[in-house]
Amino acid sequence: MKISKLFAVLLGLILLFVICGPAFAGDKTPQDTYILKGNPMGGVKFMHSAHAKDRKIKCETCHHASKPEKAATAKEQACSDCHTKVAAAPMKTNYKGAFHDSPMAKKGTCIDCHLAENAKGKKAPTKCNECHQKANV
Ligand code: HEC
Ligand code: HEC
Ligand code: HEC
Ligand code: HEC
Repeated sequence: MKISKLFAVLLGLILLFVICGPAFAGDKTPQDTYILKGNPMGGVKFMHSAHAKDRKIKCETCHHASKPEKAATAKEQACSDCHTKVAAAPMKTNYKGAFHDSPMAKKGTCIDCHLAENAKGKKAPTKCNECHQKANV
């Protein structure tokens, strides 16, 4: 009795895997949180799932479409694959530039939306030390 129950559970798990497996193949699952590093002021703790899932921000808001200077190899690829600390020609936008402008962080991928949200009463970080914190390693 016990053995057959265990067998049924195992069979169920195997079936689930067979059915769901192919849907996952090829697509990388994003981590819940990314620590984006480089700035000596400190890393940025970016809650990917809070942005993409909870706040339902469209993927393409941050993950832009492939551009001719350096073609994408996946639909959603790590920014750091192409935007390096020092932009290597033909790339012009460095790692920082992927997220905000220099030197005052007044606009860019992360800042434009945060400013717009704050104008509507939200409290998204726009000051340097609200994003860059030594604690984020
Ligand atoms: C608010 C901006 C933002 C949104 C919205 C967003 N992402 Fe991301 N995503 C990022 C950042 C930043 C990273 C980390 C990049 C890095 O490490 O350089 C990332 C990483 C990823 C990665 C890992 C890539 C790799 O090669 O390691 C995947 C996969 C991904 N995102 C998928 C998605 C999907 C699917 C959606 C929509 C449901 C989405 N993202 C929405 C900003 C965003
Ligand atoms: C496969 C390579 C690749 C990946 C991955 C990539 N980019 Fe880009 N990105 C480019 C290219 C090519 C350009 C255009 C040339 C340039 O500005 O250097 C660009 C330009 C930009 C620009 C400048 C404004 C514009 O639209 O032209 C921003 C901002 C930007 N990317 C943000 C991001 C962010 C944020 C991520 C990660 C969520 C990301 N990129 C991932 C290749 C990439
Ligand atoms: C389309 C809008 C949008 C974009 C783009 C966006 N954010 Fe946010 N972000 C928000 C909102 C909304 C909040 C929450 C504000 C609140 O809770 O009052 C937030 C909050 C945060 C927080 C505080 C912790 C948390 O998740 O609640 C951090 C850190 C943050 N964002 C980093 C980033 C970074 C880094 C980027 C660029 C890769 C980015 N955000 C892009 C809308 C956005
Ligand atoms: C919404 C979050 C956010 C805010 C606010 C913000 N930054 Fe950033 N910044 C980032 C992210 C994400 C990166 C990429 C990760 C890294 O390099 O630390 C970055 C990168 C940088 C870098 C590049 C470091 C390197 O790799 O060479 C510098 C310098 C920088 N920021 C300075 C500032 C300054 C100065 C301010 C305030 C005027 C500021 N940032 C505000 C998110 C933010």
